[in-house]
Order: sequence, then C-alpha cells, then structure tokens
Amino acid sequence: MNWKVKALLQKTLSFTKLGDALNHIPATLNKNYHYNVAIYQTYECIRKFSYCSIDLSKNKTALDFGTGYSLISSIVLSLLGFQKIITVDITKDISFSTLKKQVHYLDHPEALKLIVSKSIYTKKEILEKINTIKKATRLEAVFNLGNIEYIAPYTFKTLYKYSKKIDYIASQVVLEHVPREILEQLFKFKKEVLQKDQFCVHTINFIDHFTNPGFFQDSSISEFNFLKYSNKYWKFWAGNSIAYTNRLSYLYYLELCKKENLKVLDFIGENYKEKIKLEVTQIHSDILRNYNPKINIEDIMKYQRGTLIISK
Ligand SMILES: C[S@@+](CC[C@H](N)C(=O)[O-])C[C@H]1O[C@@H](n2cnc3c(N)ncnc32)[C@H](O)[C@@H]1O
Repeated sequence: MNWKVKALLQKTLSFTKLGDALNHIPATLNKNYHYNVAIYQTYECIRKFSYCSIDLSKNKTALDFGTGYSLISSIVLSLLGFQKIITVDITKDISFSTLKKQVHYLDHPEALKLIVSKSIYTKKEILEKINTIKKATRLEAVFNLGNIEYIAPYTFKTLYKYSKKIDYIASQVVLEHVPREILEQLFKFKKEVLQKDQFCVHTINFIDHFTNPGFFQDSSISEFNFLKYSNKYWKFWAGNSIAYTNRLSYLYYLELCKKENLKVLDFIGENYKEKIKLEVTQIHSDILRNYNPKINIEDIMKYQRGTLIISK
C-alpha cells in the first residue's frame, strides 16, 4: 500500500486524544502479540546489557529511555539485579491489562533462560519474583516490586536530579523518534553524568518506518525512501507525534559521540531486511546537511539498524 495512506491516517489520528493508542491497535490483533513482545523485549534488553561489564552486586541504577507500551524491559532489568530502574517517556502509554498479558510469558523457558544467564539471582529467586509480579493487581504494585520509577512525561531537569545515581542507560528503537535538538541534550546529559564503568546502549532503527511489516507496509519503496524528501515535505507527511522519525543515520550518532567526547566502545550495524536500492543522487540536500561534507554519502544507507555502545 502506498506509504502516504498510512501517513495520512497517522496524521489524522495524531489530532485526536487517543490517536497513538488507536494507531497501536492493529499490531495487538496478532494472536501472538503479547508473547512476541515479552520475548523480544527480554532478548533485546539482555542483549544490550551483555555488551557492558556492570557488577550488579553493587547497588546499580538503570535508566530505560523511551518506555513505550511495555514495561517488560524495566522488569527484566530489575530481575537481572538492578536495584532501581528509572523509565521515562514523553507520553504515558503503559496499560496494566496489557502488561499483565506480557508478564505471563516471563517464566516461559525462552525468556527465563536468558534472564537466569545474566542475573545475580538464582533461578528459584527469579521465579519467585516473577510469580509475585504476576499476582500484582495494580501497576503501582509492579513499580514497587521492581523499584521502578515511571516518569512520563519527563524533562531533562528531572533526569538531572538522578544524574549521580545512573549507572546504565538503555534505549530500544527510541532515538530515531527523537528530534536532533533533544538528541543533542541527551548526549550532553550522558557526557555530564557518565562515569568510568558506566554505559549507554542504544538500539536504533535507521529506516523509513513506512516500510515496516504490517497491513499498511509499502513494499514497493526503498527502506531509505524517506531520504528523498525535503524537511518541509517530510514534516507535512510525518511531522506528527505518531509518525515522526528524524531520518538520521548511524554516522550522525557517531559524530555526536565525538562532539561530546564520549567513547564509542562499539557500533554494531545490521541489515535485517531485503534492500531496495535508493540512488545516492536521490538523497535530498536537507538530509546531507546533517553530515560532515567529507562523508561517503553511500554510508548514510549502510545500516538498517544498529546498536551503539558508549562509555566515558
Ligand atoms: C517505537 S517506541 C519504542 C518503545 C520501547 N522502547 C519498545 O522497545 O517497545 C518509541 C518510543 O519513544 C518514545 N519517545 C519519543 N520521543 C522521545 C523523547 N524525546 N524522549 C523519550 N522518549 C521518546 C515514544 O513515546 C515511544 O514510546
């Protein structure tokens, strides 16, 4: 389906109060949705954590940046042994009934094995914790059990209040939704708060989200189709709270680390879906302005997804 159909629907929904929630409904209709979310979030949370050497026996705090609809990452961080988890978003999107359905799968052998492999707790202790969470009757009870603080909407002023305590910052497919000015604030924040042996791990999706799988997927366009358009044109179609993506590639994030003097321990670039080539000449000059003129323009489209591991 032409991407503009979805773009128009999202734009219309963004004017309504429940727009984001309504936009999310089609995904939840898949009968395996809650299982898939629980396993995916657990896997990704532990994969990111495994790139860092953090001694969890020493009272550590994690910041999960961009909570989204599921609290599973924060719960998994607590099951690993983080003593406190702060999770922030620009909107409050967690629903307790959805969370209940996902928590149900945390003791599924696939998820449990992953948690046990990296946790400071024994399998028995982890199972006891999961069972207690399963019995919770309110979202606040889950927050208390995991010592999770959910701040939505958050401000950087609030984040700075916790700055001395944060040992680990993680985000999952969030940074591509964050405008440049906020990314700059976030990386500045990291530079100011990160100490030796503290880490940030961000998994970022660099592609045009209108090519994502689903009913409205546009499979006729390149996964980098959005690079063809001017900022003004893109703002018209996707400059709303539901569809917004910043169209920045991994090169931008590496440059930002350099600017803030943050050490990139690794960048793991991935290509996970079929490539449909977009010619370099089709990339709009507004996009090129985000980069140092010396870059190889082809590199903007080198990776579809990547994980950035940062320290000081
Ligand atoms: C694709 S969702 C990912 C959510 C979650 N991390 C996950 O893996 O399911 C992107 C999230 O980023 C959040 N977000 C957008 N801009 C943000 C910002 N400036 N700061 C923090 N979160 C933001 C959105 O509200 C949304 O919850």
